[in-house]
Amino acid sequence: MALGKYTRIDNNRRSSSTYCSTVTIVVFVALCLVGIWIMTSSSVVPVQNGDDNPQEKKSEVKEEGTQVITESSGSNAQQFEDNTGDLPDDATKGDGNTNLAQGESNSSTEEKQEKSQEVYASSEGFKLSDGVKTSNDQESNSDDGIFKKEEKQSDSDDGVPKTDTDESSGGLRDSEENSKQKKSDAESDGDEKKFDSGDTEKKSDLDDSGSKQDNSSSQTNEETVDTQVEVKVEQNDSNALEKRSDEKDGNQEKNESSNEVFPSAALPELLNETVAQNGSFATQATESKNEKEAHLSSNGQNGFSWKLCNSTAGPDYIPCLDNWQAIKNLHSTKHYEHRERHCPQEPPTCLVPLLEGYKHSIEWPKSREKIWYSNVPHTKLAEYKGHQNWVKVTGEYLTFPGGGTQFKHGALHYIDFIQESVPDIAWGKRSRVVLDVGCGVASFGGFLFDRNVLTMSFAPKDEHEAQVQFALERGIPAISAVMGTQRLPFPGKVFDVVHCARCRVPWHIEGGKLLLELNRVLRPGGFFVWSATPIYQKLTEDVEIWRAMSELTKAMCWKLVNKTSKDAVNGVAVAVYRKPTSNECYEQRSQQEPPLCKQSDDPNAAWNVPLQDCMHKVPVDSSERGSQWPEQWPARLDKSPYWLMSSQVGVYGKAAPEDFTTDNEHWKRVVSKSYLKGLGINWSTVRNVMDMRAVYGGFAAALKDLNVWVMNVVPIDSPDTLPIIYERGLFGIYHDWCESFSTYPRSYDLLHADHLFSKVKKRCNMVALIAEVDRMLRPEGKLIVRDDVETINQVENLVKSMQWEVRMTYSKDAEGLLSVQKSLWRPKEVETLTYALA
Ligand SMILES: *[C@@H]1O[C@H](CO)[C@@H](O)[C@H](O)[C@H]1NC(C)=O
Ligand SMILES: *[C@@H]1O[C@H](CO)[C@@H](O)[C@H](O)[C@H]1NC(C)=O
Ligand SMILES: *[C@@H]1O[C@H](CO)[C@@H](O)[C@H](O)[C@H]1NC(C)=O
Ligand SMILES: *[C@@H]1O[C@H](CO)[C@@H](O)[C@H](O)[C@H]1NC(C)=O
Ligand SMILES: *[C@@H]1O[C@H](CO)[C@@H](O)[C@H](O)[C@H]1NC(C)=O
Ligand SMILES: *[C@@H]1O[C@H](CO)[C@@H](O)[C@H](O)[C@H]1NC(C)=O
Ligand SMILES: *[C@@H]1O[C@H](CO)[C@@H](O)[C@H](O)[C@H]1NC(C)=O
Ligand SMILES: *[C@@H]1O[C@H](CO)[C@@H](O)[C@H](O)[C@H]1NC(C)=O
Ligand SMILES: *[C@@H]1O[C@H](CO)[C@@H](O)[C@H](O)[C@H]1NC(C)=O
Repeated sequence: MALGKYTRIDNNRRSSSTYCSTVTIVVFVALCLVGIWIMTSSSVVPVQNGDDNPQEKKSEVKEEGTQVITESSGSNAQQFEDNTGDLPDDATKGDGNTNLAQGESNSSTEEKQEKSQEVYASSEGFKLSDGVKTSNDQESNSDDGIFKKEEKQSDSDDGVPKTDTDESSGGLRDSEENSKQKKSDAESDGDEKKFDSGDTEKKSDLDDSGSKQDNSSSQTNEETVDTQVEVKVEQNDSNALEKRSDEKDGNQEKNESSNEVFPSAALPELLNETVAQNGSFATQATESKNEKEAHLSSNGQNGFSWKLCNSTAGPDYIPCLDNWQAIKNLHSTKHYEHRERHCPQEPPTCLVPLLEGYKHSIEWPKSREKIWYSNVPHTKLAEYKGHQNWVKVTGEYLTFPGGGTQFKHGALHYIDFIQESVPDIAWGKRSRVVLDVGCGVASFGGFLFDRNVLTMSFAPKDEHEAQVQFALERGIPAISAVMGTQRLPFPGKVFDVVHCARCRVPWHIEGGKLLLELNRVLRPGGFFVWSATPIYQKLTEDVEIWRAMSELTKAMCWKLVNKTSKDAVNGVAVAVYRKPTSNECYEQRSQQEPPLCKQSDDPNAAWNVPLQDCMHKVPVDSSERGSQWPEQWPARLDKSPYWLMSSQVGVYGKAAPEDFTTDNEHWKRVVSKSYLKGLGINWSTVRNVMDMRAVYGGFAAALKDLNVWVMNVVPIDSPDTLPIIYERGLFGIYHDWCESFSTYPRSYDLLHADHLFSKVKKRCNMVALIAEVDRMLRPEGKLIVRDDVETINQVENLVKSMQWEVRMTYSKDAEGLLSVQKSLWRPKEVETLTYALA
């Protein structure tokens, strides 16, 4: 349980005069309910708790190293004894009211605990946290080709030392099996420890940052306890649901200070999902071990002293794209090597400066038409592209009157024109996920939202300054990337349509190497929509390119489905090609040029993999991905892909299709019952969202009805589930979180990190990842972290040292949830990144 939280309340109750001697069960129950109440009542209270929680823990750790273990497991019998001596004292100070409740409530306590244990059992194998289980499962499973790693697996999960930490996990298992009494002892023991720490003098010293809120919220807490007890007394039949609704009532009476009401049903969601899988208990050893290590290292880290990055790119710094040292050392830039990723050896831990005059971004959908000039003060693009009706500076705003080069008179008309040319494209039904190459300011993708189409747009960071930054500021998905020497960071056969409107990519040269890369990511039967000048202009160069393209596409077995004449409105014509759905054409070619890829070439391998001059065979086995078109949108969103077989084991340990379905429902519940209401987030201000560690895309799917888009990032050391995400009509990208992401600073409104930090910190510097999160987030952007408590505490300390606002913290057993909001704060001290100076 969220020990710290409950504790906190009791500390505040110390003024109460009632004394009592029995503590264990009572305390647990009351605190539990108080915790629930807190969550249902007020955002202020959680903030305060969040402030105190880790600090209490810290102080405990200092005083008594072993308690760490108990904290996470809550069940080390030895420690109960250690603590009982101190306990009555503390408890007596605190818990008169709770005691009243005891006589009537202890049976329900037990039942309730049983219930939560059932939850453990029933949801076993479906836990989001665990690295050990998951990745091992994956490995044993990788034969079936779905969950192959993109890269070598991180080693740190294995070989967990079996020392005292085993005791703690063993103890936990015991308590699950053993008597309820023992269990409740365990729980209350956890609370007692909190009292101890609360008692120490240090405690008050530690209360620095949250002290103001402490004042008001301690009052709240006192009231909370009273309410709680009432609820408890009335309610001894231990129906968890009823309790919750009662608490909600109580909450509504005492709504002061709250504008976000935590939904009544949210708690069980948080509980059972965070306790889900026995895998997480198995990793208790790992967690504890890490905790110790972290405390060693975090002694210095606690007051991490942030610095401001000094780089040539200034407020627009993208570490892997602005590495001038690496760029200067390139042997060639012929293939746009200088626009590719060149990450610094060590990811920076400094913070990117804020733009002067930065304003809160205009909200979608207005942002599609205009954005603050002060947020992206690049006149260059406006000057350069002004005549093409892309961008205009209009007072304080940049406006986007037309859309882009090829549709200056309306992107929607252009979009509909494409569908008229090839009705099979069927925007928003058959075609759902589009790749837009050389996207400009991404108007195409921006307007495709109106047709229920999701567009992954990309453009290099090049002389057309900050096209992608414009796109993101407009609330349109885009990444900085280039067709250079490496594969794009997407799996094979995932895009329904690939689009290029005069995207300035030389498709026809060098054996069509770049077009072959599009062929890799295009779904069999998918369309390539091309509307560049060679299609409709008769200049010599254009004619030559058209001829070369015709030969190349024929050799690639792409069928020219339509080549329109010039559209009267936008003055452009469109050529649409279709990738084959069988291998006949490939085999019948007189010349095997471009060649078919070797059998060993994995089309999904895309992280730092050089481009290959070859084509992958089209899958024909009906159980293989790519052999059939997915269901139409939106049916494909919730359907387990046809190529997920029951014989395969999913990421959470169930049969893959079942795993998928469970995950989907799980996220629907979590999002609707807690994320949307309980985290202190106003979702109508959220547009650009990233799931930093997506699995099946359940989080993104659950946000479907909001006006947001979600970039699903599948880390390279996680099971490769990205094809599943695309199959559902969502999109995403591979990434290594030990490096910086290819996006501009201040481009996301919300980042979701589900058990990401705990994994990343085993491989690389977590402070650098926090700095990266800070870089990507807009001021007032939100971060939701779910992770083990120890990691949560680290993250919380780090973000608080950047003066971020903690909106909600919650923890139960070893698992926690944190919701924070970025501030405008910037450090004073400067760190000069020599490699980033031009
Ligand atoms: C509650 O527990 C106490 C101590 O375990 C026991 O004496 C009491 O009878 C219990 N009350 C109920 C209602 O079960
Ligand atoms: C979570 O708990 C609810 C009831 O409290 C249950 O119906 C659901 O199956 C649980 N979810 C998981 C993933 O165990
Ligand atoms: C906290 O409350 C006490 C008494 O209620 C008051 O004297 C003190 O000024 C308050 N502190 C803050 C920061 O509000
Ligand atoms: C509480 O439990 C007692 C005995 O189990 C029962 O008589 C009483 O009706 C219950 N009260 C409520 C409100 O359920
Ligand atoms: C709290 O509730 C009362 C009545 O239930 C209502 O009048 C008041 O406006 C509420 N306050 C807030 C902050 O919601
Ligand atoms: C997890 O639970 C499953 C089924 O209950 C069991 O077979 C497996 O051994 C457990 N794993 C661990 C590590 O406890
Ligand atoms: C940034 O670095 C450059 C080059 O070393 C230096 O001239 C400049 O003063 C630095 N800026 C700040 C604010 O420290
Ligand atoms: C090709 O596109 C044009 C323009 O949209 C359309 O009028 C024509 O019917 C299309 N031809 C075919 C064969 O679909
Ligand atoms: C959420 O944001 C919208 C748009 O900025 C605003 O109109 C609304 O009042 C906000 N809601 C709350 C509860 O703050």
